Amino acid sequence: MQIRVEKGAAEKFPCELLLLFSFESPETLEGPIQSVDVEWKGFISTLMKQGDFKGELFERKLFYTQGALPAKRVLLTGLGKKGEFDLEKWRGASSKAGQFVRDAGIKQFVFQVKKLDSYSEEDLAESFVTGLLLGVYQYHEFKTLEREKIKEIGEVIILGETMDEVKSLSDGLRTGKIISEAVCMARDLVNGPSNKITPTVLSEKAQQIAKDHGMEIQVLDVSQAEAMGMGAFVAVAKGSQEPGKFITLEYNKGKGLDTIALVGKGITFDSGGISIKPSEGMGRMKDDMSGAAAVLAAMQAASKLSLPLHLVGMIPATENLPSGKAYKPGDILKTLSGQTVEVISTDAEGRLILSDALTYSLRYQPKAIVDLATLTGAIVIALGDYVIGLFGNDEPLLKRIEEASGKAGEKVWRLPLWDEYFDYLKSDVADFMNVGTRAAGAIIGGIFLSKFVEKVPWVHLDIAGPAFIEKERPYVPKGGTGVGVRLVVQLLRDWK
Ligand code: BES
Ligand code: ZN
Ligand code: ZN
Repeated sequence: MQIRVEKGAAEKFPCELLLLFSFESPETLEGPIQSVDVEWKGFISTLMKQGDFKGELFERKLFYTQGALPAKRVLLTGLGKKGEFDLEKWRGASSKAGQFVRDAGIKQFVFQVKKLDSYSEEDLAESFVTGLLLGVYQYHEFKTLEREKIKEIGEVIILGETMDEVKSLSDGLRTGKIISEAVCMARDLVNGPSNKITPTVLSEKAQQIAKDHGMEIQVLDVSQAEAMGMGAFVAVAKGSQEPGKFITLEYNKGKGLDTIALVGKGITFDSGGISIKPSEGMGRMKDDMSGAAAVLAAMQAASKLSLPLHLVGMIPATENLPSGKAYKPGDILKTLSGQTVEVISTDAEGRLILSDALTYSLRYQPKAIVDLATLTGAIVIALGDYVIGLFGNDEPLLKRIEEASGKAGEKVWRLPLWDEYFDYLKSDVADFMNVGTRAAGAIIGGIFLSKFVEKVPWVHLDIAGPAFIEKERPYVPKGGTGVGVRLVVQLLRDWK
């Protein structure tokens, strides 16, 4: 889909379809919809008076103009009550409009953006593009039959009336596109099956990103990781035939900028290992690299946006499988930090590979560490598939995340990391166990990770709920969601 900005006005622009938004039961029409209404001899105000279109949130209705306008068709889309409007609803409405156009088989549409209350043209364009691109995302990589039936919009033209508006809209379009394309890349990686998205493939993807954007990259294989002392990562990786990779991507190295470390769990398939999971629903565990995908995507977006930060993205990538070489319950591992861990369950592998990655990240002396991981089933039970579990050791950093969350529309909810919870992890034979009780499972996972970040400001995002969804949301189709990418990119954009 091509999206571009042009100078022009909605009522005068010839096109396949003109998209217009309206609030619910407005007293008067304002902006582009008003100009179109005048040109159309009051057609829109009449149909709204008759109750044919009310403007309820995500309501959509298609009209044929029969030559009364340069546009062949008009799609009205509802924004809901004016007092309840925000950019999250705007992204949803943009997505719903895009999905309607796509599903109707219409190949082109035009849409004019005008400043709305406190929202600038630039913000509106960014969020419009975000909602649209994320909403019409489809994963059909492995479909070979009836590919001709896949519907796609070919062209979208965003109109601005003045050159100033055109400039702001172009800026918003550019930002929205960079971020959404990164999210879609993350979604492709998550939706990709584990026989295709292996640790090697993740490392190749990282190499490609490094090459395209002039980043530094280091990919350690398992024997190198072993020589470095990454005993926890290696323990998980050695059970699999598929070679594990420890990936480090670095953007803006050596420029004296603030360093932020991003760490993503990269389990390309989590069978549970020797503590094997029940087979029902196990296929979903191809998504256990969602944190890794989010880190790759955030790095790509940050560099395309030229963000003035030194970013280090770290991805321990491996499968978690049972085999004659697999690690076992009862094993004691020596982590890179020197601390030892008694393995209670080989299914609590995420915290093991992350522990070494977190320790490794300290070498870069980061101002902050953000980890993203599909870490626990317990967070899904606690918060459902809508919200990211948020943990951390630093109030200002937690606040930054919460602020970014509000802007990006990726919800987070804070859980505590009180010392008392550490008691659950005390081991008789090692420094700690990798599993405590079932109760407070997500918190105990967070407590475990906290033992590897020393005093560095750190947040842990448990994305196990929203990483993969069974029921679509306004601009998030079913399947891999790419959650966390927009949250992290917003955090980085607002860093100073
Ligand atoms: N990858 C899973 C967590 C998960 C579960 C993600 C469901 C998405 C949906 C993780 O490695 C895991 O298996 N965690 C265990 C930890 C337990 C053994 C302490 C869990 O949550 O059951
Ligand atoms: Zn597991
Ligand atoms: Zn896992």
